[in-house]
Amino acid sequence: MTSTDSGSTPKPPAKDPWELPDVADLTVGVLGGTGDQGRGLAYRLARAGQKVIIGSRAAERAGTAAAELGLGVEGADNAECARRSDIVIVAVPWEGHAKTLESLRDELAGKLVVDCVNPLGFDKKGAYALRPEEGSAAEQAAALLPESRVTGAFHHLSAVLLLDPAVGQIDTDVMVLGEVRADTDIVQALAARIPGMRGVFAGRLRNAHQVESLVANLISVNRRYKAHAGLRVTDL
Ligand SMILES: NC(=O)c1ccc[n+]([C@@H]2O[C@H](COP(=O)([O-])OP(=O)(O)OC[C@H]3O[C@@H](n4cnc5c(N)ncnc54)[C@H](OP(=O)(O)O)[C@@H]3O)[C@@H](O)[C@H]2O)c1
Repeated sequence: MTSTDSGSTPKPPAKDPWELPDVADLTVGVLGGTGDQGRGLAYRLARAGQKVIIGSRAAERAGTAAAELGLGVEGADNAECARRSDIVIVAVPWEGHAKTLESLRDELAGKLVVDCVNPLGFDKKGAYALRPEEGSAAEQAAALLPESRVTGAFHHLSAVLLLDPAVGQIDTDVMVLGEVRADTDIVQALAARIPGMRGVFAGRLRNAHQVESLVANLISVNRRYKAHAGLRVTDL
């Protein structure tokens, strides 16, 4: 007897996990986009043809950083950056994370937020992972932004490589975390816009802490081997 004969509904074929949406027309904003990580991501995405707006606490600083990058990148204060963007990358230091997001709750409502913040401490022994009360920076973002679509990604990138115009490819995987597959698909597609980069779904936000913390290990690797280490997930 076939499944149809038995009266049960046949399952639709599983979707190819590498089938990702076209994100070329989406505008990407970067909060804290005047810093190394923010400028680096803005540069790579703009170089790939994405419309990018750099955000700052001061519009003038954003304007200067955007003009230096060229490639059609614009600058604005963080609120305008959030308002005008479809996807908003959070690239502020951990210390300013909660306050920044709280102040932009309205502007970020309905937006796809991509948190790349790594809560780290530094002492004589090097970098170590902090454990935020909410579990991770990404979960803190989700708690503070109930009307936004919060994801986590781009934690393991080297800003030095991102910003070096002589580097043509950024060979690394980007672990993408989130609750809604349609949103993590968009972030994976965004990562894939950058030559050499691949976005890999890596679980729900409750697993963001390990991904954020792994940066402490990468910093140790970089110090030991004088490298700008990235990550590859094998057998995919
Ligand atoms: N650097 C990397 O290689 C790397 C890699 C992966 C992930 N990340 C993560 O990305 C984030 C940014 O890193 P970064 O190295 O670019 O940091 P950063 O240069 O120290 O800060 C980025 C920008 O955030 C703004 N900012 C500074 N303090 C702030 C505060 N208290 N509240 C709100 N905004 C503040 C500043 O812009 P304005 O003064 O113009 O507002 C600054 O230019 C961090 O959370 C880090 O964990 C960094």
